Amino acid sequence: MAAVTRTPLIAGNWKMNLDHQQAIALVQKLDWALKDAKHENGSVEVALFPPFTDLRSVQTLIAADKISFALGAQDLSVHDSGAYTGEISGQFLAKLDCRYVIIGHSERRQYHDETDAVVAAKTKAALRHGLVPVICVGETAEDLEKHGASAVPVAQLEAALEGVAPGADIVVAYEPVWAIGSGQAATPEQAQQVCAPLRAVVADKLGADAAAATRVLYGGSVGASNIAGFMREPDVDGALVGGASLKVDDFAAIIRFQKHIGV
Ligand code: PGA
Repeated sequence: MAAVTRTPLIAGNWKMNLDHQQAIALVQKLDWALKDAKHENGSVEVALFPPFTDLRSVQTLIAADKISFALGAQDLSVHDSGAYTGEISGQFLAKLDCRYVIIGHSERRQYHDETDAVVAAKTKAALRHGLVPVICVGETAEDLEKHGASAVPVAQLEAALEGVAPGADIVVAYEPVWAIGSGQAATPEQAQQVCAPLRAVVADKLGADAAAATRVLYGGSVGASNIAGFMREPDVDGALVGGASLKVDDFAAIIRFQKHIGV
């Protein structure tokens, strides 16, 4: 397969943090922090995933100040419109200039009983509206012990991509559940050992070209001090960052991983 350059993607999942005023302040501060000419952040794509109620404010700010961050949502409905109280359509997200939407985060699977079938339906809903699904997969500590690291994430991704058209534009996020918010990140080697088979699933389901172009992210206690190690791995193309994405200095340092990646 010809070598393909994938633009690294650093994604900030704010979860249920920051109201729309706090969101505006954080985006402005992050933009200023990254404009510091002494610290180039290279060709890295930055995507922010604020709560739904912040999206319009962040969209407006990004457009007005010509900020180069991509916008994403943390979830979407499987439905396009209708009598589904509390649900948010992919159509609305596309209208707010969202490029991405997180699907199947372990917190949705755990607290909202999202099954693989729901994740597959949401993946299709995202693609239907021109959004790039950021499909999250990952094993619990119990899965890890019983089945090893890759079996559950591989099965989850296979299920999510069932019936998706070859060549679809997706992002995959490998997030071991035991590493999320625990301060206990996987090692770069552990991440690579799962991200490589996940790319193989994309090849199998969506074709070799899609697999070569798809960004596979690692997520789970990523911070400024460990990002460089992950980014050195051949099948890790970025990170889905929770806690550290709420701290401007930490998130800016993660975005600038190329500065401290070393050799
Ligand atoms: P964390 O969260 O970086 O706080 O571990 C990652 C995630 O849940 O996406």
